[in-house]
Amino acid sequence: MKILLVNPPNSGRSIPEEEYGIDSIKSIFRGEPLALEVLAGNLRDHEVMILDLKVEPDALVASLAAFAPDIVGLTGMTCEANAMVAQAKVIKANCQALVVVGGIHASNDPDFFHQPAIDYIAIGLGKASLRQLVLALEQGGDTSIIPGICKVGSGSTANYTPRQFSMADLVDDVPPAYELVQRYRQHYILTSLQLDMGFVATAFGCPFRCHFCCIKGLTDGRYLAHSIATVLRDISLLPDVPIIRLLDANTFANVEHATKLATALKEANLGKQFLADVRSDTVVKHPELMTLWKEAGLRAVIVGFEEIDDSSLSAMNKANSVAVNSEAITILHDIGITIIGDFIISPSYNHSDFDRLERYITEHQVDLPMITVLTPLPGTPLFDDMQAEISIDDLDYYTLTNAVTPTVMAGKEFYQRYAALLKMSHSGASL
Ligand SMILES: C[S@@+](CC[C@H](N)C(=O)[O-])C[C@H]1O[C@@H](n2cnc3c(N)ncnc32)[C@H](O)[C@@H]1O
Ligand code: SF4
Repeated sequence: MKILLVNPPNSGRSIPEEEYGIDSIKSIFRGEPLALEVLAGNLRDHEVMILDLKVEPDALVASLAAFAPDIVGLTGMTCEANAMVAQAKVIKANCQALVVVGGIHASNDPDFFHQPAIDYIAIGLGKASLRQLVLALEQGGDTSIIPGICKVGSGSTANYTPRQFSMADLVDDVPPAYELVQRYRQHYILTSLQLDMGFVATAFGCPFRCHFCCIKGLTDGRYLAHSIATVLRDISLLPDVPIIRLLDANTFANVEHATKLATALKEANLGKQFLADVRSDTVVKHPELMTLWKEAGLRAVIVGFEEIDDSSLSAMNKANSVAVNSEAITILHDIGITIIGDFIISPSYNHSDFDRLERYITEHQVDLPMITVLTPLPGTPLFDDMQAEISIDDLDYYTLTNAVTPTVMAGKEFYQRYAALLKMSHSGASL
């Protein structure tokens, strides 16, 4: 079959820009569409094309005409969900292809995609289930019985058999089809260093349950790690790429596995530098693991510090503390690993909350702070808690840089303080 896999265009909207002319807070997503490359890797006996609309925003109609797909697949995050539906409508207006959507929003809020322009919704990791769907479509089989695949029918809710995610869903033996984005590769750079950056997945899911986090829906809460050989294979498929972003929610959740992986990377001596996500409590409990990873090429870590008081961390179910966050910063500085620190500001913030966070970031010398606004993403426990307060339900604004519940401060002041905090944090910051 001919299958076109589409990465939606950059599509989020910005309240500070639209309402107050503050254009420094926008989220722009760059990087290769690893999820599509992974899906394509398991469809190698079909004719597959990847179209990256983040690079070629106007190329959909011409690509549909030139490639004439039987199936079009779209993935995206919550802030891209409207764009995915818009692309699905364009696809239906221009060709006969069946439309399948997947990704994190489809997994957490499948009902959203129960719309006429969409034929199937893939819930959770789709590498194995999309292949099953394609085979069933090709052979005229019953598509409604595939676990994790929802056939959009009548009614307004998505009915499907949930999938019990397991190692089999990683289909370890087939690599991502990196070759299908070769024509885009010069666009996939780490802008701060102007270096080529590639994405590799070592694990999916996370054993923790932070209330704001949308990761659970991808694996139904399981933590599934690729084998060491698979990770080494995938890295070696990106020979000319100096920086590898390990695109996992939590690369070090299984400490024994992460130790074996670092040892193997060190021995393989691939000459790569790595960026990866780690929890601060993992750093504090296992500083030796961070030292080993530094030796294996770990250049920078992304750490979710989130908040600067224990009661806020506890309300988020972060299962962590400010003391541990501070200790992790010291350890990482001592080892020489750059810290990209995630902090979440709440719409309930007042001037003194901004002052406190500003002081914390300055005093603790987080190398590159990333600051988001607490956002009740559909499908998360936070969404259930905050649903009644939501004042903006247009998902275009769910970029994590807009307040979608009312701010306590006047909106303009809130975004001015947010912009000033970003400016202060990023001046002189580097990786
Ligand atoms: C994958 S996690 C970061 C690293 C690591 N997993 C950890 O917990 O330390 C991604 C980060 O995005 C931010 N984030 C995720 N969901 C969010 C939401 N709903 N609202 C605001 N920020 C969010 C948080 O700062 C979170 O730490
Ligand atoms: S924020 Fe990090 S630790 Fe918390 S659930 Fe998400 S990935 Fe796991």
